[in-house]
Amino acid sequence: MEEITHLSTRGQNAASKPLRMDLEIYKEAMENRYHSDTNPNGTFPMTVAENHLCWDMLRDKMQEISRDQEIPEWVASYGDPAGVLSFREAVADFLGEHLMRQVIEPETLACSVGATSVIEMTSFLLAESGDTAVIPAPSYPVYSADIGVMAGLKRFDLQTHHEVSELANGFPITLSHLENAKKEIEENGSEFRMLILTSPDNPSGGIYSENQFIQMADWCENEKIHLIINEIYGLATVDVEHPEIREDYPNPIEFKSFGNLMKERKSPYLHLWYSLSKDFGISGYRVGILHSYNEQLITGYRNIGLTHAISNHTQWLLGEVLNDQVFVKKYLKSFKEALTKSYLIVCQTLKKLQIPFNPSYGSLFVWIDLSSLMDTPSQEAQHQLWLEIFQKTGMLITPGNGFGHSKKGMFRVVITSVSHTELEVAMERFENFILKKKS
Ligand SMILES: Cc1ncc(COP(=O)(O)O)c(C=O)c1O
Repeated sequence: MEEITHLSTRGQNAASKPLRMDLEIYKEAMENRYHSDTNPNGTFPMTVAENHLCWDMLRDKMQEISRDQEIPEWVASYGDPAGVLSFREAVADFLGEHLMRQVIEPETLACSVGATSVIEMTSFLLAESGDTAVIPAPSYPVYSADIGVMAGLKRFDLQTHHEVSELANGFPITLSHLENAKKEIEENGSEFRMLILTSPDNPSGGIYSENQFIQMADWCENEKIHLIINEIYGLATVDVEHPEIREDYPNPIEFKSFGNLMKERKSPYLHLWYSLSKDFGISGYRVGILHSYNEQLITGYRNIGLTHAISNHTQWLLGEVLNDQVFVKKYLKSFKEALTKSYLIVCQTLKKLQIPFNPSYGSLFVWIDLSSLMDTPSQEAQHQLWLEIFQKTGMLITPGNGFGHSKKGMFRVVITSVSHTELEVAMERFENFILKKKS
């Protein structure tokens, strides 16, 4: 690699580490995308957590607003660094109606450019550099950068299980997992400052029950540890009552937003993250939201938030979208149907091939176990299998590296980045690949 000079130590670190290890191959996959007529042997990029299922609906809505309405005066000026009031009101109404199903106040919200920046800002404001955030494994690889680069937090991947089958009745996390983690972190000279849970989860698609939230909130408040639930996939829920998959959820867990418990307790230690990137499939608009009853946290966020502030034009446009309640309802219904359809396409094939996977309650993913196709349970064998799947099927999925999980041979399949017809072709190729490999 070329020697990096003229930069600070931080700059040198940044210049030497790509955002993701799979960027080059992702670029290759994007340039050779499948098209039934013009590129029938093309690829399926299914590694980046994007949702393109209902973009047409949203684009039409945004074009209608841009065409029919004047851009208001305030859009051209500086605004509130934590989100202009009219936008926070629109978000509060939307989250209250659809995610929490009870009223929430715009004063409890602070917005910035995507959940990425919300995670960074929250970590910066709640923790000291060198503190530790505990995250049950497997989990979103980019948490490491979001909590680490600016805020200086360390990530502790908490192992609560090894096989996907152990997730059958929900996440097996217990208070003794947390107590042991605290002991280990303190023995290593750090502080357990934050516990981060993602629900629905990336990559497993699992959700936490209300009882688990209560138990963990009790423990965290008592220990003065911040408990943050990332509900970025909160409205990306699969219809688990669908007759084709109902039996996969023998003891179904009901999805209930953590916002409900937060409202009841109004504790300075309980917080929630959301974003429009996933449920609305508009990661490029960069809208993330912190919800908290910790007033000092919101004040601090506002005081230093200008470097992360969302463009006023985006806030205006998306505020108008969210204020159209009829549209939002219709959009969310269509999205849930489309997501469930994608999920069915993938899990039907997995079942046919007897590939273990975790039945998803939500998110944009299916977390699958391909370890039986590897000779050794090693990172190298996993990497080779990942490349082989891409070369033979054109499906670019995400290998388990970076998710912090003990088991090798796990892969995340993004089910919402290609259309239903493309997904069917991809799964057909995948089936042929697995059958050949097994024989
Ligand atoms: C769990 C989780 N948090 C945060 C993000 C980042 O979201 P945003 O695009 O809003 O920054 C992602 C994106 O994949 C994610 O999966």
